[in-house]
Amino acid sequence: MKDYANEFKGKRVLITGGSRGIGAAAAQRLIDGGASVVVTARSRHEETPAEATFITGDLRSKEGAEAVANEAINILGGLDILIHSAGAARVQLTSMDQIPEAEWLDSLDINFLAGLRITHAVLPALRESVLSSIVYVSAGGLTPFGGPLSHYGAAKAALNNYAKNLAKELAPAGIRVNVVTPGPIITPGGDEVRNTITSAMGITDEQFFAGVPLQGRGGRSEELAEPIAFLVSDRASYITGHNHFVTGGWGELA
Ligand SMILES: NC(=O)c1ccc[n+]([C@@H]2O[C@H](COP(=O)([O-])OP(=O)(O)OC[C@H]3O[C@@H](n4cnc5c(N)ncnc54)[C@H](OP(=O)(O)O)[C@@H]3O)[C@@H](O)[C@H]2O)c1
Repeated sequence: MKDYANEFKGKRVLITGGSRGIGAAAAQRLIDGGASVVVTARSRHEETPAEATFITGDLRSKEGAEAVANEAINILGGLDILIHSAGAARVQLTSMDQIPEAEWLDSLDINFLAGLRITHAVLPALRESVLSSIVYVSAGGLTPFGGPLSHYGAAKAALNNYAKNLAKELAPAGIRVNVVTPGPIITPGGDEVRNTITSAMGITDEQFFAGVPLQGRGGRSEELAEPIAFLVSDRASYITGHNHFVTGGWGELA
């Protein structure tokens, strides 16, 4: 019988944005399954799993991403799994044409190009592994967010498209690529976005979450970590190229 408790034993994993929120929960889930995990972000956080190796890095440049990839691969002695959760949504309470050019560029940098850069830097290592896989934590796969987050949505849409192409390109090599799209998840980053929106709209958290079909509640990071763990596990060995919605029905059942 398969030992699911230790299904990640021997797996070498890099998790971007693994210092907190969804990335940290995914790191803890894989560590609990026996994986060796390196997490990276610009700074450590109190949520950063103690059993993960933390490396400092900024993915907003090719050099930054390559430095992270090289250090992680050195520490782990190779790489089997990349989970890219780093991202940032800065709400702009204005119309799209008033969002400064610098914000569009910064959003593209962290929400799209960071994923591309870290992927390209680790691909040679992933190609050497057996049954390797990638999961991107994205957003906005269903409906546009609207003006205040349009720059974020456009960058994540680019990431979704990139991931789909990559899945096709890497499929013959047996490397699986999937995307997970979260609904409103209670994390430091998610809370910041929600607080800005609820303050601007003059509504409570309860009113905000009322739009989520599943019990009108926000999701927990662990509820994202579980499907991410499934997708990078050998249990998902025939799944590639999909965007998986983990949203409590938000946007999907509307
Ligand atoms: N929470 C939600 O409701 C929600 C919904 C849809 C999609 N998402 C997506 O899910 C992912 C995780 O979100 P979260 O809610 O867990 O966010 P979070 O709590 O803000 O965590 C984001 C992580 O990304 C890292 N990061 C940000 N900028 C970085 C940079 N330039 N270089 C390296 N690392 C960087 C952060 O660490 P540092 O700041 O220290 O670098 C942190 O570890 C993001 O891609 C987000 O867009 C979240």
